[in-house]
Amino acid sequence: MPSRPAVAATALALSAAFLAAGPGRAAARTATACGDPAVRPWCLAALPPDRRADLLLAALTADEKADLMAGDELLGQVTSGWDANARAGTLNGVPRLGVPGLRFSGGDAGVRQGRATALPAPIALGASFDPAAARRHGALVGDETRRKGSEVTLGPALDVVRNPRFGRAFEQYGEDPALTARLGAEWIRAAQAQGVLASAKHFTAYNQEHERYTIDAVVGGRALREIYLPPFEAAVRDAGVATVMCAYNKVNGAWACESAPLLARILRGEWRFPGFVVSDWMTRLSGVAPPARAGLDLEMPAGARYNPWFLNAEIAAGRLDRAAVDARVRAILRTMFAFGVFDRPPYPNAPAGIDVPAHLRTARELAEEGITLLKNDGVLPLRAASIAVIGPAADAYISGGGSSQVQPRSPVTPLRGIRERAAREGVRVHHDDGSDRARAAALARRSDVAVVVAADARTEFADQWCLSLACGDALRGDQDGLVAAVAAANPRTVAVLENGGPVLLPWAGAAAGIVQAWYPGEQGGHAIARVLFGDADPGGRSPVTFPVAERDAPASGGEEQYPGRDGRVHYSEGVLVGYRHYDANRIAPRFPFGHGLSYTTFSYGDLAVRRDRVEVTVTNTGDRRGTAVPQLYLGLPGTAAAPQPPRQLRGFAKVRLDPGESRRVAMPLDERALSYWDERTGAWRRAPGCASVMVGASSRDIAATARLC
Ligand code: BGC
Repeated sequence: MPSRPAVAATALALSAAFLAAGPGRAAARTATACGDPAVRPWCLAALPPDRRADLLLAALTADEKADLMAGDELLGQVTSGWDANARAGTLNGVPRLGVPGLRFSGGDAGVRQGRATALPAPIALGASFDPAAARRHGALVGDETRRKGSEVTLGPALDVVRNPRFGRAFEQYGEDPALTARLGAEWIRAAQAQGVLASAKHFTAYNQEHERYTIDAVVGGRALREIYLPPFEAAVRDAGVATVMCAYNKVNGAWACESAPLLARILRGEWRFPGFVVSDWMTRLSGVAPPARAGLDLEMPAGARYNPWFLNAEIAAGRLDRAAVDARVRAILRTMFAFGVFDRPPYPNAPAGIDVPAHLRTARELAEEGITLLKNDGVLPLRAASIAVIGPAADAYISGGGSSQVQPRSPVTPLRGIRERAAREGVRVHHDDGSDRARAAALARRSDVAVVVAADARTEFADQWCLSLACGDALRGDQDGLVAAVAAANPRTVAVLENGGPVLLPWAGAAAGIVQAWYPGEQGGHAIARVLFGDADPGGRSPVTFPVAERDAPASGGEEQYPGRDGRVHYSEGVLVGYRHYDANRIAPRFPFGHGLSYTTFSYGDLAVRRDRVEVTVTNTGDRRGTAVPQLYLGLPGTAAAPQPPRQLRGFAKVRLDPGESRRVAMPLDERALSYWDERTGAWRRAPGCASVMVGASSRDIAATARLC
């Protein structure tokens, strides 16, 4: 993996290259935003970023420093959804000294700044189990962010899905920290290689919308280290992320944005994070000095606490050191230097340069990589002369709500995708919105195949109050009842789901096929059609477990676990998050973590455990080309003091194989993979004894095992 300086150097070289290629080339070479190094020594690009930051700090007044510690815009957050010139936030620079500003746009699933390419939601990217897909997603967001004139993309979200009811589950990569860490790091590197700064969020233990501005997450050291922190650690150490966004909630009694253990000790102390910490939008804080001392550098979107009046007053009263303020400003400036922001003119808002056709193709291909075939009784790929396309979501564009919602360019609904694909073979398509169940069932009965499209309605600001498809969605009615009625009318019924997280699927036994498309982005209709007709192999594997019943789901152990009592939510399940919960408590899921079918079949053989890796041979045993996702799980030896989950994902790969083709796949192992966090010593410790090594097609479909001692 490239080192952090290498990543920053690449970003610098790339932004220089963009400028050199741009129309204002001649002007760009002389007049950077910074100015003449003879009078402004910090403008000398050859100096190291920290040196440049120190030189500039010495020239800034106290008021200017305070101004640099907070954003300068209030309304962008609201208007960015539709206004091509509005962003989630802006930080004005200091023109007197050639300090450029920063502009911040949402970028979780595409750029939230007027119309942009609406990509599959992060949960669909999680389902891809594909580092290459994460790179394509990140690169596209980075490219559109820059061309829309922003320096910072506010993502990726790296919150491990603790609770399937989480309203923002769709903005995450799923319930496993290793999967989240790997995809997040790839995304960040790719986005930053486009010359923008990424922001790993929400640091940390941000796992519910219920009371999100006030809730105190009471979480043990081991769960923090093994479940919630690894994605951020990878973002910092492996990917060199420029900024980290601290979360709204409290963690173990302190606001995440003023937690010294999190910001000073772990992030900066242990991980040596050289970037800056940005607050989530309008986060609460206990005052002005505590966050400044702990390490919150930038308050967004405006300076409710970080402003010249309050900061200067705290310094005058002796509650805040000037050195702490300098440390905050230095972090912001050195990051801007490291990423070349001073050495180029601000990116113009010039979206005409975006290669829209290529980006729409990427959106479709990424959706196909994430579409997860949960069940197939042989009904797929479709072979039919007539198809009934049913359901209130069939002719709708479905995405998650809130700050990650992108205004799509030209969304393709499932109905349109299926119609266009079917027309090529003269297949008849009839549509019913499902508002009259008997009428929809009658259409299904008359058709060769019925495709029912159902969706959930997840959004920032609210958790799901239940896990049925009707949850949070008065408009679309009882979709579970609709699927059941259609499946009863026609045994060749395929349910296509556009969900932002797990749902219960009580009718799963009756549907012949279940296609989980997540929120597939604006090309989702085409991607769904291509998977249904077999033009594309369903590439996805579920990054979350689907429970049979609500009470089976993690964090269902009473109100203390969720939604919390007296303002506190207890993470008493410890590391038993996601499939670790189902496995340890012997709960059979409806569909397990890592599950997803292909149109072909695979075998896994010749498992070999080496010192630093596990190898397995994957063979396509079917008669068509397809995608395998071999997954490596380790069961660490447990002790009474440190019980271990039965298995934990430690590696995965994505391989596309022709019929009969074999590939040797290596999945690296390191000391950390064999270790757990020892709360007594506050350190990683290798689990004593032999670990079981399991490789297979899902967390519950293990094909080969071995011991590692
Ligand atoms: C969200 C962040 C987002 C920010 C700016 C907040 O409401 O929690 O994820 O980046 O808004 O849009």
